[in-house]
Amino acid sequence: MAKEKFYITTPIYYPSDKLHIGHSYCTVAADTIARYKRAQGYDVMFLTGTDEHGQKIQRIAEERGVSPQEYVDNIVSGIKDLWKLMDISNDKFIRTTDEMHVKAVQKIFNTLYEKGDIYKSEYEGWYCTPCESFWTEHQLVDGKCPDCGRSVEKTKEESYFFRLSKYQDRLIDLIKNNPDFLQPAIRQNEMLNNFLIPGLEDLCVSRTSFDWGIPVEFDPKHVVYVWLDALTNYINALGAFSDDDADFKKYWPADVHLVGKEIVRFHSIIWPAMLMALDLPLPKQVYGHGWLLLDGGKMSKSKGNVVDPVKLVEKYGVDAIRYFLMREMPFGADGVFNNEALINRINSDLANDLGNLVSRTVSMVEKYFGGTCRNMNVADTMDGELITLAKETPAKVEALMDSYQFSSALAEIWKLISRTNKYIDETTPWTLAKDESKKDRLETVMYNLCEAIRIASELISPVMTRTTPAILAQIGAKESGWNCAKVWGLQDSFTVTKGSVLFPRIDVEAELKAIEEEAANAQAPQIEKPEAKEEITIDDFIKTELRVAKVIECERIKKAKKLLKLQLDLGYEKRQVVSGIAQFYEPEELIGKKVVIVANLKPVKLCGEDSYGMILCASNDNQLSIISPSDDMELGSEVC
Ligand code: ME8
Ligand code: MG
Repeated sequence: MAKEKFYITTPIYYPSDKLHIGHSYCTVAADTIARYKRAQGYDVMFLTGTDEHGQKIQRIAEERGVSPQEYVDNIVSGIKDLWKLMDISNDKFIRTTDEMHVKAVQKIFNTLYEKGDIYKSEYEGWYCTPCESFWTEHQLVDGKCPDCGRSVEKTKEESYFFRLSKYQDRLIDLIKNNPDFLQPAIRQNEMLNNFLIPGLEDLCVSRTSFDWGIPVEFDPKHVVYVWLDALTNYINALGAFSDDDADFKKYWPADVHLVGKEIVRFHSIIWPAMLMALDLPLPKQVYGHGWLLLDGGKMSKSKGNVVDPVKLVEKYGVDAIRYFLMREMPFGADGVFNNEALINRINSDLANDLGNLVSRTVSMVEKYFGGTCRNMNVADTMDGELITLAKETPAKVEALMDSYQFSSALAEIWKLISRTNKYIDETTPWTLAKDESKKDRLETVMYNLCEAIRIASELISPVMTRTTPAILAQIGAKESGWNCAKVWGLQDSFTVTKGSVLFPRIDVEAELKAIEEEAANAQAPQIEKPEAKEEITIDDFIKTELRVAKVIECERIKKAKKLLKLQLDLGYEKRQVVSGIAQFYEPEELIGKKVVIVANLKPVKLCGEDSYGMILCASNDNQLSIISPSDDMELGSEVC
């Protein structure tokens, strides 16, 4: 019989220099589900990828002086490395810059346009000229641009719109009548009350104000805007709208789209509406998980409170991190990441409960039986509880895994692990070993320990990719696989081999202190003493005429990535200065800023522009900061 298929996706990530542990959270959860389903015998398709278009990417690339494509290529390779490090077993990786995706998006756009579900109109909004950004009324902060704080103008931009409003009633029915479609259930009311019942507006799906995007085929001054490009990745990665759509036919509709709670709206409203418009089946489920928080706030790169998954994995190992992510918080809810909680979990759950159990058992089998123990069938009433629990645990774990309750599933497995540890205390093998007549009883106890360990190890395999094979090798499991966990007494004997310590115990205090020091060092990097310059006298110094000026105009110099052209007001005169600071400042953020200039510097021409002076900046290899006197300092004042 053909295997049943299971298609699972993560969101496609925005390329960013460093994905943080919050991003890994969603991907590890998806990977856990994918591994669990594969282990159960499903034909799994697990997709992840990157969302690479848009104005923001274009701007960052420009700032760094590279093409957007070069910029994303570089970052995406880092993201792929991270997933490798985290043992992510995705079957496909889609980039929205992939040719196949680009073509499919264009076809989808054309199809929806021909059907009348996309139409041309005008996008009315507030425009910030320096930022080249459109904002809606409600995005403005005190009526000003939310990015730069300057005034905005009411403008219209020609745009294409998707007729989202047309699907409102069908979407309300979908969410109300199919409780499985959107999970956890609390997200259903959020969508109904905040968006669907108040009423949907049509969605802007093209832009003309930037060009790093997929061109609309029949009107190429437009690029496809955000969500139509991003969401359709889930079908395009399978070859929808291409000549090779076998995977699409096989795997669509998705069984689950895992997404963070802030993008549930796009996945449970806009995405099904697009599929309805395309007459395609809807995903079976959208699951909105919570956020991993740090000190009460969402982890975000822009907030600088990022926790680096690479460092965490290097320090504690990939399985410890995956275990912590899946164990520490219930999947639908928010949870807090902190080092102390992580270290405590590693020490208590992994080093103590699991690691010790395995190493004690292996040592005893070696010591008492030269490495091999058989089931001698000398039972005792105290065996019953352990064996019953071991037999019942797999079904409990499956029920919880099926509803993505990873934390509770792991808690069930740890009940078995704890029960097994307790079994050692109850049976006191060291006492049995003293009595030759109890030899067969002792061997049976050893066998029961190995069996319980074997079952627990199979059950953790979707989360802990490396620990399962390591333990199974130590106890000498002869067969492995999810179904093996469901059988007590699968093998007659175990031949153990001592392996390395699974989870070394961490000294909590020393470790936390080291982490603090590391953080402090990261903030204050050690720097070498620079080579001193030749000594000068005050007379040498005062030859330099330094004066306070204000930036009144500022623009980039085309062709020169590093240069800005500034018009300065010195109070007594105005002058032009060219400065190599373009990679560190946006022209608009400098307007109005007070600076200090070398006013008696011989004029030079830079890239065809005259420069009368030099702006003082502090700088090193990767930072630069303009020296700026306080705002009330009069223009033209001398600096000495
Ligand atoms: O939203 N805790 O991309 P993205 C938990 N490109 N999850 C977190 C998190 C945290 N601290 N920080 C981020 C996008 N995430 C779009 C998606 S899909 C068609 C397009 C999760 O890189 C976040 O919730 O900003 C989201 O699900 C995912 O990382 C990608 O976020
Ligand atoms: Mg986001």
